[in-house]
Amino acid sequence: MPPAKKTAKKTTKKVIAKKKSLVKKSVAEKKGDTKKNKKIFEPIRGMKDIVPRDEKYWLAIWKSARELARAYSYNYIETPIIEPTQLFVRSIGKGTDVVDKEMYTFDDRDGNKVSMRPEFTAGIARSFISNGMMNMPQPVKLWTRGPLFRYDRPQAGRYRQFHQFGCEVIGGRDPVIDAELINIGYNFYRDLGINTEVYINSIGSLEDRQNYIIELVGYLRSKRSYLSDLSKKRLTKNPLRILDSKDEQDKEVLQDAPQIIEWLSQDSKDFFMKVLEYLDELHIPYVLQPTLVRGLDYYCDTVYEYYVEGGDHTSQGALGGGGRYDALIEQLGGRESTPASGFGLGLERCVLAMKAAQKEGKKVVTQEKPTIFFAQLGEMARRKALRIFEELRRDGVYVMSTLSKGSLRAQLELADSMKVTHTAILGQKEVQDKTIIIRDMATGMQEIIDQKTLAKHLQNILKK
Ligand code: HAM
Repeated sequence: MPPAKKTAKKTTKKVIAKKKSLVKKSVAEKKGDTKKNKKIFEPIRGMKDIVPRDEKYWLAIWKSARELARAYSYNYIETPIIEPTQLFVRSIGKGTDVVDKEMYTFDDRDGNKVSMRPEFTAGIARSFISNGMMNMPQPVKLWTRGPLFRYDRPQAGRYRQFHQFGCEVIGGRDPVIDAELINIGYNFYRDLGINTEVYINSIGSLEDRQNYIIELVGYLRSKRSYLSDLSKKRLTKNPLRILDSKDEQDKEVLQDAPQIIEWLSQDSKDFFMKVLEYLDELHIPYVLQPTLVRGLDYYCDTVYEYYVEGGDHTSQGALGGGGRYDALIEQLGGRESTPASGFGLGLERCVLAMKAAQKEGKKVVTQEKPTIFFAQLGEMARRKALRIFEELRRDGVYVMSTLSKGSLRAQLELADSMKVTHTAILGQKEVQDKTIIIRDMATGMQEIIDQKTLAKHLQNILKK
């Protein structure tokens, strides 16, 4: 071969090799695969995945919420996750921790200030007005569930994305409404196996509260030097929140502070007494808590929080809370005198309480997956299993299976790890005989049944 041609060929080879290496490099870079670029993403601080090992708690929670809402005739509502920032500022109030420090607020691409909902009540009140719900028979009873966002300091039971089950009754001022709501929350926990007690107080009307605040501030000013720095700041911004302080020094000062209950109007006192009478009737354990004011501005009269019965109330936050908000709808531009009441129950804290109760050996209600596994062996059985599995599902019989695993041993091992009580096994012989084997996983005993009776047979096992 002449030397010129040889050099040309070498150069072409070099160019091709270089191109190949460039292509390889750019693919690797795109995949983030170079050592420098390899980064493992974690969820944003304070936000958590709900993972399969917790599925049984969450399914039980959603089921309990839905069933209770249906039983007490609440209708489902779902509002957007993002709303105009002003909606929350006007509802929850300036000076509250939620509005001042905890909202995820940003400008959207049109320059509108929007916020991710830190709670449901403001959005539901907005929706009540936007959808003309004042023209429906009153009161309107609504329930919802979903994620909420607060830029809180993360710790156990406090997250930046969390979930609530919420109920709101809009368009009625009757103590029985408050008692029904408190009862639903109480039943929600009880149905899941958690005993709670309700801490309750009345903060009266706006006017009662204004009179009380003057008295409270007068008292706290006289003790200012003994207050914590945070409470000193709150003295001008939001004095009622001082009552909630966890600081030991503050607590001492608060022992002799005037109590809001003494400042209630007769109407508010009577209303509160009626709520308590209904709670007595329902045998709901409650504790009168004169310092309970809650952290959102829209409340009036009844306010309450749920705590695990006999639990440590100071270090762990409330499981849930709620109260009356008679002025909010009007304040947001709705019809005059549209009183309302509701609650929000924090579901991450509910899962934590369920786990803690289990640790103490208490029985909580979780929703386990079906306890039957469907195994198949061989191509013919796999095809048949596909059909049988679909037919079972249509008959409402839910079994687990994995068609991607071929060996029976691997399938039985999986069934064992899922702690199923029974496994249905379909092999080539069973396909031909139109039978199926049912294996009791605890005893290893097997019986052969007719495929026609399979659905009934499995239903009986699932019922046990
Ligand atoms: P809230 O007291 O702000 O009330 O929240 C209710 C519950 O949500 C709390 O008791 C707690 O269990 C849970 N929660 C609050 N913040 C967090 C967080 N950062 N991480 C985990 N869980 C949290 C309200 O939201 C009112 N909208 C309730 C209401 C409805 N009032 C009248 N209607």
